[in-house]
Amino acid sequence: MDTRFAISQYPDAKALNDELNALIKKPIYSIAPEALKAYEDEYYGKKCQKSKAMIEEAKSVIPGGVQHNLAFNYPFPLVFTKAEGAKLYDIDGNEYYDLLQAGGPTVLGSNDPVVREAVIDLLNTCGPSTGLFHEYEYKLGKKIADSVPSVDMFRMLGSGTEACMCAVRVARLATKKKNILKMGGAYHGWSDQLAWGMRVPGTKNLQSRGVPMFVFKHTQEFFPGDLEDLEKKLWLNKFNGGTAGVFIEPIGPESATRPVSEEFVKGVETLCRKYGALLICDEVVSGFRIGMAGAQGYYGIDPDLTIFGKVIAGGYPGAGGVAGHRDVMKHLGAGLDSSGKKVKKAMCGGTMAATPISSIAGYTAICEIEKRNACQVAGQRADQLVKGINESIARYNLPFVCYNIGSVCHLHTVATMQYAIDWGKLWQVPKILDETGLRQKEMEHMGAAYMAEGIVTLAGSRLYTSAAYTPEMIDDVIGRFDKVLSQCEKLEIVKKK
Ligand SMILES: Cc1ncc(COP(=O)(O)O)c(C=O)c1O
Repeated sequence: MDTRFAISQYPDAKALNDELNALIKKPIYSIAPEALKAYEDEYYGKKCQKSKAMIEEAKSVIPGGVQHNLAFNYPFPLVFTKAEGAKLYDIDGNEYYDLLQAGGPTVLGSNDPVVREAVIDLLNTCGPSTGLFHEYEYKLGKKIADSVPSVDMFRMLGSGTEACMCAVRVARLATKKKNILKMGGAYHGWSDQLAWGMRVPGTKNLQSRGVPMFVFKHTQEFFPGDLEDLEKKLWLNKFNGGTAGVFIEPIGPESATRPVSEEFVKGVETLCRKYGALLICDEVVSGFRIGMAGAQGYYGIDPDLTIFGKVIAGGYPGAGGVAGHRDVMKHLGAGLDSSGKKVKKAMCGGTMAATPISSIAGYTAICEIEKRNACQVAGQRADQLVKGINESIARYNLPFVCYNIGSVCHLHTVATMQYAIDWGKLWQVPKILDETGLRQKEMEHMGAAYMAEGIVTLAGSRLYTSAAYTPEMIDDVIGRFDKVLSQCEKLEIVKKK
């Protein structure tokens, strides 16, 4: 087992949450309106005209002009035509540093040539899909099982969302219990049952338009980092069908947007054992990014089920899978187990699940990640980046909070997701939703400024580094962030009556 991890030093989760809680009580600081106007006029108005025209045309057939949630950038989405290592290029020929990393999958950097060549070879022989077994399905499964100690078996699916859906069914079959607990604010894909308490803890179904309330009969949330709250809910569930599984993103909900401590993660495991619930680790982001053994390897926990996504298809389509202990995974296999007894199977699959192309891309990418020590290298680049950004934050006396867990970095300027909804104080809900809306808008403005300085971020607040970055590139990126941060000020927000 490869024991190298991206995390050089685990951040103090309590101190960070205190800082984030303080940030949402402060006035909003963001890019100064005149600086934003200059970016709009000089950059977007003059240098992004082809993107603007294409998005305008696309709006006639694509709702909003783009298909991917992360591509909705202010003032309008840009159109990208080339990706290479740490760089992206748009249709107008502008060059950018890529800190979005396709939303996480490309730990090696974008469009890695070794992975690409393996895929091209496969396309020349087998093509992208056959609907039949391919040797790389086995090779990928074996590589994942060899890398992650809790994994005996692996079943590939089409996405992280599908894998989470599948894990819910397997957990119920394996435990014969009903309820699913998740951390408030966490994202486990967009399936009906898990669209509960998304983004902001306590939101229940507020972000689940189109999903009927009865779907959530057996889905519950507990407050991130709060073991007492989790235990209370596990205990109550004993009288209400039991808890089949506890979903956690081990580095914290929304990829550590709200960080959690190592003790908390280990505490969740202990409580799952005590109440007979499966521990389900969603490592869609952290798998093969925090280390070859995932975040679970770093914390030293042994989840019953692990959800993989993103990296396991090396940046190619069809990135998802459920993995875990043999006695649980048997519910995803053929009708008879080795003892000859009938085993109840969870119905899951997909025409494009486990295609040769996703399997070979994932296998090659994971082997290359190990060979190049990519998780640790990307983590070191993130350490350097966060140090540089924090120096700028101090230089301009801004209230912003910047930290990283390995190669997952957060630059909170408004901390929208640090809010929580308390249903005992229902009158506060409209005010919170109003405030998060305002802050969200400022986060988009920050994202627009970073983009105009040649840095692509995830929604203006999350930054993934990859092993394609050199220390010199990171220095350049820090200089660009510094320029944006030097133009930030306290905003006079005029709220609509
Ligand atoms: C933690 C986590 N779980 C699940 C998902 C869903 O994965 P996918 O987008 O492949 O459906 C995501 C996607 O970002 C995620 O971050």
